[in-house]
Amino acid sequence: MMIRAEHPADIESIYQVNAIAFGREHEAKLVNRLRGLPHTLSLVAAVGDAIVGHIFFSPVTLEDVNAKNLMVLGLGPVAVRPDHQHQGIGSQLIRQGVEHCRQRGSRTVVVLGDPQFYTRFGFTPAEESALRCEYTVPEGAFRVLELEPGALQNCRGLVRYCPEFAHCE
Ligand SMILES: CC(C)(COP(=O)(O)OP(=O)(O)OC[C@H]1O[C@@H](n2cnc3c(N)ncnc32)[C@H](O)[C@@H]1OP(=O)(O)O)[C@@H](O)C(=O)NCCC(=O)NCCS
Repeated sequence: MMIRAEHPADIESIYQVNAIAFGREHEAKLVNRLRGLPHTLSLVAAVGDAIVGHIFFSPVTLEDVNAKNLMVLGLGPVAVRPDHQHQGIGSQLIRQGVEHCRQRGSRTVVVLGDPQFYTRFGFTPAEESALRCEYTVPEGAFRVLELEPGALQNCRGLVRYCPEFAHCE
């Protein structure tokens, strides 16, 4: 299994991985809408020629005027084909994805998802920082990861995802 940047030939497989993992097409369509936007990152987990997992990162904006030039990326969606789950592939996609974000100059990553799952990667509840999600979500579901010590000290305000998140069917 290797994790690499998506290739144009992977697009249909990425759609299928998201659709089958989530059991609906919402996330697969969302990825298609986000693909190609500036500062996005799309990685796949490949076993031979087969795409078995996928992760996407897209930039979020902060309402705080002082935080405008900080690159904060939102993780999601992440998906692994059901027949390849529980083998560590999702974790590797997240760890390597976060490392790519760091190398691209992002100092903070945010995620909306299961608290237990994301805690293992170091994500902490946004309630402990000065970041708030634009969506109303259960307590603990919006989490943040600072990619260098102190990064969150300069990160505050309402986090807004790309408009494509709201416009997706
Ligand atoms: C979440 C997901 C990407 C994990 O992929 P994976 O390759 O199975 O992940 P790993 O093998 O590295 O880790 C497995 C752990 O993920 C956790 N997990 C799996 N599915 C989960 C889910 N839907 N929500 C929360 N945690 C989940 C379990 O705790 C599991 O631990 P275990 O193996 O000890 O039981 C995969 O289950 C998936 O595609 N789910 C459907 C899509 C989804 O819910 N994506 C996340 C929200 S954006």
